[in-house]
Amino acid sequence: MRIDSLTTYFQEYEKSINSPEKFWENIAENFYWRKKWSKVLEWNFDEPKIKWFLDAKLNITENIFERNLDKLAQQTAIIWESNNPNESSKHISYQQLFSEVSQFANVLKNQGVKKGDRVAIYMPMVPEAVVAMLACARIGAIHSVVFGGFSAQSLSDRIIDAEAKILITADGGFRGSKTINLKNIVDEALEKCPSIEKCIVLERTKKSIQMKNGRDIWWHQAIENISIHCEAEEMDSEDMLFILYTSGSTGKPKGVVHTIAGYMVYTQYTFENVFQYNRGDIYFCTADVGWITGHSYMVYAPLLAGGTMVMFEGVPNYPHSGRFWEIIDKNKVTHFYTAPTAIRSLMANGLEPIKPYQLTTLKVLGTVGEPINAEAWHWYHTYIGKEKCPIVDTWWQTETGGIMISPLAGITPTKPTFATLPLPGVQLMIVDSEGNELKGNAVEGNLCIKFPFPSMIRTTYGNHERCKQTYFSTYKNLYFTGDGAKRDEDGYYRILGRVDDVINVSGHRLGTAEVENAINEHPLVNESAVVAYPHDIKGQGIYAFVVLENEGKTHEITAMKASILETVNKIIGAIAKPDKILFCSGLPKTRSGKIMRRILRKIAEGDISNLGDITTLLNPEIVEEIKKEAGF
Ligand code: WTA
Repeated sequence: MRIDSLTTYFQEYEKSINSPEKFWENIAENFYWRKKWSKVLEWNFDEPKIKWFLDAKLNITENIFERNLDKLAQQTAIIWESNNPNESSKHISYQQLFSEVSQFANVLKNQGVKKGDRVAIYMPMVPEAVVAMLACARIGAIHSVVFGGFSAQSLSDRIIDAEAKILITADGGFRGSKTINLKNIVDEALEKCPSIEKCIVLERTKKSIQMKNGRDIWWHQAIENISIHCEAEEMDSEDMLFILYTSGSTGKPKGVVHTIAGYMVYTQYTFENVFQYNRGDIYFCTADVGWITGHSYMVYAPLLAGGTMVMFEGVPNYPHSGRFWEIIDKNKVTHFYTAPTAIRSLMANGLEPIKPYQLTTLKVLGTVGEPINAEAWHWYHTYIGKEKCPIVDTWWQTETGGIMISPLAGITPTKPTFATLPLPGVQLMIVDSEGNELKGNAVEGNLCIKFPFPSMIRTTYGNHERCKQTYFSTYKNLYFTGDGAKRDEDGYYRILGRVDDVINVSGHRLGTAEVENAINEHPLVNESAVVAYPHDIKGQGIYAFVVLENEGKTHEITAMKASILETVNKIIGAIAKPDKILFCSGLPKTRSGKIMRRILRKIAEGDISNLGDITTLLNPEIVEEIKKEAGF
């Protein structure tokens, strides 16, 4: 399964393109199947229909536990570091994790959870979040993890869409100097969620909370006297493993669905090859469990690979900005995977916070979630990797489930800001806006994928048509990523960022329409338009152009801004709060009433040199007003 040289990479890539079925079948042989597949792949991008390892039977947790337990029982699976450096860390062995997962699986069963039921998980970064996910997988329930930074409304929207039966949460969580009262948010959310029968609450902050009679159950009470043995449910390879909601170019987040076998095979394979991970290495991924990186490369892949992973509850700059480096030294971390935003924010603190730490155990560094700029790449390489650690700049998406384009650590020569080459099985195509393939090297256009790979999105939950429209309809017979990309003279890929209405703020995906809808909920807002602009730390910032009722004449600007931010915070969560708000009396529109975002984007980017022809607008005078407001 392991690629160990550039030559082997090219050979394996060839094989994966010439006979994909055979290629993936060989890799799948390394897993534990209750029953093998009758056919490797069935697909078309029309419906779309994507099925891998048809008719095979398995359980992903048997591949984490039973497959490896004879060798790994005593090995540490999870090293957990608290938000508070004075609270002791936890070392959880595979055997112990297995017991906890099985026990909690029995709890879920006792609460009436059956194969195929949806379970929502809204938790802080504690090991029990992993236990909850794997317990669902053990009994064939489908988990839907909701990022703990989302608001009550975002949480209830996701629960309602998935018709989740159970919600697993905590009294609260610690993030830096803040205590997040998750349970209060949950109580508000559940008022609108008739599908939820029970809410299991982990005690973490010990802050006083309300427990609703008949609905709420404490985690520690639920596991009392419950067996630590639970036979794994036999699952079909194409049964759903999880739903993960993500933002797109339309208002409502959609539930991306991943199925069991393909996701399992692809995530372990890519983890071992991209990171060149060997058992015994200590791997630290800073992603939150509520995002796809947390799912694939903090939970599933490292555990499938029998790895030891570090899970960190806190934030990079609390109680000091050397916290990551402290954790790395303390735990002898060999592999470190984080987001460019985190690197940029730490870079802004200078070198002083790094000085107390050796960082000599590090072998491989990784980045994910957004383009990394050259300056941040060099800083990471020089000061964290001490110029000896390869950086894997991994490009992928919630929808792809696993890494698509990335160097293989120490094997693929890297080039700052380039995600480099596609992994085996990944067949890319760059097209122009009409969908014509741009062949050869040194081309730039929209990035598509032309052939299925095992961990690819199967559907959007409850609405297959939406999946088709969003990903498979822009260009015929292609999956469209939504990203622009360039292929250089060496055939290396550089991701240029989203070409659709998705903004990537600190590596968090948000739809412009989603933020606009939230702003428009404010009773005094008439309409709004949201665009991205370059932000030094966050990568992209949110710029909102807002039209108030009565053209804003009667409102006090500072108070209005604060109250709009509060509305967004309440409807989506703090991550979606605009960085800049500009009030105007109208938005530039075409004669058919469409907002001319291109013009707003230019103004937000601070470049008004080429606004294009504005005379055809319905209201060209508004552009002058906005320019003036923006300080031009
Ligand atoms: C962006 C995160 C540049 C991209 C795993 C993609 C990147 C979106 C990179 C998916 C990278 C992710 N370089 N851009 N290495 N990795 N992106 O679904 O725009 O949260 O479409 O998945 O992040 O974000 P998502």
